[in-house]
Amino acid sequence: MSKVRIGILGSRFQADCIAGAVKAMAEEAEVVAVASPTRAHATAFATRHGIPLAYTDHRELLRDPDVELIWIAVPNRLHAQITIDAAQAGKHVVCEKPLCLTIEEADAMIDACRRAGVLLLYGEELFFAPKYVKAKQLADEGAFGRVHLVKQGEKHSGPHSEWFWDVEQSGGGAVMDLGCHGIAFCWWFLGKPAIKSVYSQMATQVHQERTQGEDEAVTIIEFANGAIGMVESSWNRPGGMDDSIEVFGDKGQTYADLLMGNALPTYSEVGFGYAVEKAATTRGWTYPVFEEQWNYGFPQATRHFARCVRGKETPISDGETGRVVQEVLYAAYASAGLGRKVMLPFRPTGIAKPIDLWKAPERAKAVV
Ligand SMILES: NC(=O)c1ccc[n+]([C@@H]2O[C@H](COP(=O)([O-])OP(=O)(O)OC[C@H]3O[C@@H](n4cnc5c(N)ncnc54)[C@H](O)[C@@H]3O)[C@@H](O)[C@H]2O)c1
Repeated sequence: MSKVRIGILGSRFQADCIAGAVKAMAEEAEVVAVASPTRAHATAFATRHGIPLAYTDHRELLRDPDVELIWIAVPNRLHAQITIDAAQAGKHVVCEKPLCLTIEEADAMIDACRRAGVLLLYGEELFFAPKYVKAKQLADEGAFGRVHLVKQGEKHSGPHSEWFWDVEQSGGGAVMDLGCHGIAFCWWFLGKPAIKSVYSQMATQVHQERTQGEDEAVTIIEFANGAIGMVESSWNRPGGMDDSIEVFGDKGQTYADLLMGNALPTYSEVGFGYAVEKAATTRGWTYPVFEEQWNYGFPQATRHFARCVRGKETPISDGETGRVVQEVLYAAYASAGLGRKVMLPFRPTGIAKPIDLWKAPERAKAVV
């Protein structure tokens, strides 16, 4: 299989992660260009990862005939327009989570890619995280009997870039940022069943000065097969990133902790370079991770997406996946605003961003 030629949009946190993931799958894909608005950032990124071309405007990159697939690692509010531009330029797309801000955008992205005959892939790496894949294999084999409860939590001390805290750019707080992973995870783990209802309790517990967004939330998803998904999202947990699951059935259960559970319990009086994402210190007792990207599933997702482009695999995380998550995000914010569970389908129109349904629940009342 010839290498899939990727153009990355963005040059910071997630862009670095993707460039690393592509390098780990060098026989499947290569990054041939990057675009990021600040020239110095774009060129520094290109130098850092050995990428031949650096652009400052994503439209320049889209005109590059060498690029087959665009990987969008830019703030959420830009995902939809860039995806549509990429589709019109005939490029396949991987869009980072969350897919976009609104259901209308999700529909337009899916439609643009379908019309252009290009793939719209959704960057949900938890579908590829080896520990979580193993848990799903056990569940599918029947190890836990009928699974009735799946929990996923993603928690850290808060995002690294200002735009996440600005709900106009992000669309919401911790649920938009981290809960989208858990929503996708529970749905995928249970075999992508229909979703019956969503309940969410949200609050801004700590960061009221910094954001309008929720920094703490518990979201409960009721599936049509009777199983429950429980998603915990927090921007208030110092000590480094925590990503973990619990799975319960009538014949058994399993627990998986992606980071601390794969780390080396370590004590150092002087500290060292890096322990885990968003850990503030490496002194005292810490939990340095190894193979961090591999444990998350980023290289494996990259390999899958590259093979999808070559027609060798069928996407397991695509625009429709992102759209399912988007509808649950809407329902979660509406539920937090209304103080009760919201039944699906739930597709209010004309909402600018999901968090508006929490802050102005009368918008949701018109539909439920
Ligand atoms: N899958 C995951 O686990 C994961 C992890 C982190 C971030 N993300 C997602 O990735 C996206 C980017 O997040 P991040 O953490 O890298 O943010 P970041 O702030 O670290 O980087 C954003 C980058 O986008 C660039 N940018 C802004 N406008 C642009 C444009 N028009 N064209 C090209 N580049 C542009 C910025 O210059 C910057 O380089 C977000 O949607 C985020 O939710 C996903």
